[in-house]
Amino acid sequence: MLLTMEDYRSRARKVLPRFVFEFVDGGAEHESCLQANRDDFERIRLTPRVLRDTREVDASVEVYGSTWRQPFALAPTGLNGVVRPGGDGMLARAAAEMGVPFVLSTASNQRAEEVRAIAGGGEQWLQLYVMQDRRLAEQLVRRARTAGYRALVLTADVPVGGRRWRDVRNGFSMPFRVTPRIAWDVARRPGWALRMLSGGSPRFVNLAEQPGESLSMEVQASLLARSMDRSLTWDSLRWLRSLWGGPLLLKGVLHREDAVLAARHGVDGLIVSNHGGRQLDAAPSSISVLPGIVDAVAGRIPVFLDSGVRSGADIVRAQALGARAVFIGRPALYGLACGGARGVADVMRLLAEDYERTMILSGSASARQARASWEPAGQPVQ
Ligand code: FNR
Repeated sequence: MLLTMEDYRSRARKVLPRFVFEFVDGGAEHESCLQANRDDFERIRLTPRVLRDTREVDASVEVYGSTWRQPFALAPTGLNGVVRPGGDGMLARAAAEMGVPFVLSTASNQRAEEVRAIAGGGEQWLQLYVMQDRRLAEQLVRRARTAGYRALVLTADVPVGGRRWRDVRNGFSMPFRVTPRIAWDVARRPGWALRMLSGGSPRFVNLAEQPGESLSMEVQASLLARSMDRSLTWDSLRWLRSLWGGPLLLKGVLHREDAVLAARHGVDGLIVSNHGGRQLDAAPSSISVLPGIVDAVAGRIPVFLDSGVRSGADIVRAQALGARAVFIGRPALYGLACGGARGVADVMRLLAEDYERTMILSGSASARQARASWEPAGQPVQ
């Protein structure tokens, strides 16, 4: 029975080849950041308030003039097509049905236009990696604008790819090569293998310069893995602004001074994130730095959080500490692995129910009330 997020994770482990599961599940190096993301959430205890009217819990949040029905959205994840062919579209559709945004990764395996069509409504946002050849970013942003994407998320914490030892050990690399170990791994997961055979090999289709153009896997891999533009600075935001008039968010901010700089440079929102523990292994957990960032930003722009959110209680914790809403990465991918779009919807429903129950138990009918009732208990996070 799939009752908890951990159940979905265990099922994903059973249905995916090991190299795929570990690509999704793993973190950088010693995975100490990955662990800290969870530990620091668990350390935060929610002191309940009693005898308050919680007949109606309002889970919705207002973001850039839109109403999200739930206080979470789907974080951008690359290579979703390796978890399930058509994975980007499935995630987008499930999110649209839930009334929350889906963020499409630059490293997606379906074209931005196609994903928007499959979603059949709702909000899609685009996550941007800026590579040395800046024309790629310019072209992608223009296409997203034309296709009706609502917000742009610039990911700032991947000046270079994190070193994930599990991927190295499993022989999972880009460009993809079938090693004896991977062949053995795949042979033990025939269901996944059949799906991949019928779905075609996943490609980074959004990186081609021209629509319809297909870059070789080698070129795509080197673009993503080795060609990040490390000359990107705060001044580069002006260049991005000239391409994009809608909400612009910065993802991967952990330092309060960067939060202040972002607000000063006209960024419309921050995603406090350590990339789910996949980049700088020595980085602090997102939740531990959230209060400092919320304080520094002082309400000028909304602050969001991702990395380690696994339950409704985690969402309440983040909101109590000042996040407008959260993004989830791996949990949606566990759902995708377990049951495609339906699996993603099931995971989101689990989170939504969990959130509502946690709010009622802690005596809050809205995020605002949760924040107002917040009282540190037990061991402080920092
Ligand atoms: C990611 N993440 C990510 N972020 C991003 O900006 N662009 C990307 O292409 C990817 N790709 C990606 C792939 C996979 C498999 C994972 C697990 C994550 C990071 C993602 O957006 C988010 O920050 C984390 O996943 C949040 O942490 P949790 O919810 O997975 O703990």
